[in-house]
Amino acid sequence: MTRRCVCPGSFDPVTNGHLDVIARAGDLFDEVVVAVLHNPGKSGTFDVESRMNLIEASVSALVQESGRVRVEQFGGRLLVDVCREVGAGWIVKGVRGSTDYSYEAPMARMNAHLAGVETVFLAADPRWAHVSSSLVREVASYGGDVGAFVPDVVRAALSAQQRLRRAQT
Ligand code: PNS
Repeated sequence: MTRRCVCPGSFDPVTNGHLDVIARAGDLFDEVVVAVLHNPGKSGTFDVESRMNLIEASVSALVQESGRVRVEQFGGRLLVDVCREVGAGWIVKGVRGSTDYSYEAPMARMNAHLAGVETVFLAADPRWAHVSSSLVREVASYGGDVGAFVPDVVRAALSAQQRLRRAQT
């Protein structure tokens, strides 16, 4: 039986921390579905199509190496319905510390209650424990260099977004 997991998130934008978790999920499971979902608590910076393109470009090495990682978007859907649709029995999430755990644990319990889907938490690699999409966006918005935290394609997309914003003001 194929052991398939879902790595869900809003990925706005994808960071090196996300990519580390996706790669490690690939070591644990036969197949990984990276699911781009809507988080009602967050307003988007990149539209979903851009986020998808950035993730696809960033995971292309993983996909080519293994063929076991794919990226899909599931706007307006419950995560457990996504798991059911793609035939995944597990959700994999990275946890950077106690704040992440406090946020993730109720969702994990809810997803288990709703559909019996278990969540596997991977402790964040210390290299990326301070890296979040929101901090990356903030640093980039003031012209800071985010090249250490995101893949080159994301860095370039953030720079292009900044140039566009500056041209519009
Ligand atoms: O990267 P994020 O923003 O922390 O990811 C959160 C996300 C998108 C995984 C979460 O908001 C989610 O699962 N959204 C889908 C809707 C859903 O299932 N909500 C109930 C969660 S218990």
